[in-house]
Amino acid sequence: MSTSSPAVPSSVLERKKVTTRTFRLKKERGEPITMLTAYDYPIALAMDRAGVDSILVGDSLGMVVLGYETTLPVTMEDMLHHCKAVARGARYALLIGDMPFMSYQISTAEAVRNAGRFLQEAGMDGVKLEGGRERIDAVKAIVSAGIPVMGHIGLTPQSVHQLGGFRAQGKTADAARRLLEDARLLEKAGCFSIVLETVPSPLAKLISERLEIPTIGIGAGLACDGQVLVTHDLLGLFDRFTPRFVKKYADLHSEMVEAFGSYVAEVTNRAFPADEHSIEMDEEEWEILMQDLER
Ligand code: KIV
Repeated sequence: MSTSSPAVPSSVLERKKVTTRTFRLKKERGEPITMLTAYDYPIALAMDRAGVDSILVGDSLGMVVLGYETTLPVTMEDMLHHCKAVARGARYALLIGDMPFMSYQISTAEAVRNAGRFLQEAGMDGVKLEGGRERIDAVKAIVSAGIPVMGHIGLTPQSVHQLGGFRAQGKTADAARRLLEDARLLEKAGCFSIVLETVPSPLAKLISERLEIPTIGIGAGLACDGQVLVTHDLLGLFDRFTPRFVKKYADLHSEMVEAFGSYVAEVTNRAFPADEHSIEMDEEEWEILMQDLER
C-alpha cells in the first residue's frame, strides 16, 4: 500500500480552523455554510481536504454504518468511538458530535456530563441534540458549561415512534408556528446554530430570516443558511432507501459491488495477484535455500 498522500490544494492549506464564530460571520455575509456527516477517518480526511465547513458525526451512523432500522440503539460509546476516528482525519472543519438517544433526556447533569465527553475524550468542538422547548434546560446547562450546542428540530429521528415515522414536519399552520417558537427558544437558550430537517421550504426560509443564528437545512430548501446531508446518501453508499431531498453525487454502492465482483473473479481464475503484486527473492538466496534443503 502506498503511504504518499495526494497533493493538498493550496486553498485548503491556507484555511483556518472553522469555529462557531465562522458560522455567525458566514450568516452575516450571506455565505452558505457546508456541512456533511462522517463517521470514520478516511471520509473525514477527504471531506476536510475538499473544504467542507463542518463535519457532523451524526447518530445516523446507527442506520448507514451499523445497519440498525433507526438511530435509537446508538450508544454514547458508539458515538465516541466514531468521533475519535473523525477527529483524527479532520483538521479544519468544525466538528460536531451528535448526542445519542437517552444521553441528554434523563437529567441536565447527565446531559452536561455526556456532552463534555464529546469534547474531552473524542476531540469534538461542539454537540448537537434533538428537540425544541422540551430541551431548553439541557441546552442551557450544556452551554453554561462552555460547550457549543447545535439544535435540531423538524423531523427528529430519535422521536420516530412519536412522530409516526420518518415524515415531514411543520406542514400545518399550527405545527409551523410551534417550530418557529421552538427555534426562537433554542436560540435564546444559547444554541449557536439549528438543524431544520424535512420541513417545508417557506417555513425554513421564515425561521432562517427570523433567527440571528444560522440554520442548517436537510430537506428544508435553499433559503437555509447552510446545508447538511448524510454522506452515505450523497455517495450512494446506503442502498436501503434514499430520501427524496437527497442528491446522489455518486453511486459508490454499485461501484463497490463491481470492484468486489472483479476481485472475486480474478482470484477465482488466478489473474490476481499478478507479478507486479508479488514479492521476489534474490536468486542466489533461493539457490542457497534449495541446496540446504537437498542436504
Ligand atoms: O444524525 C444525523 O446525521 C443528523 C443529520 C441528518 C442532521 O442528525
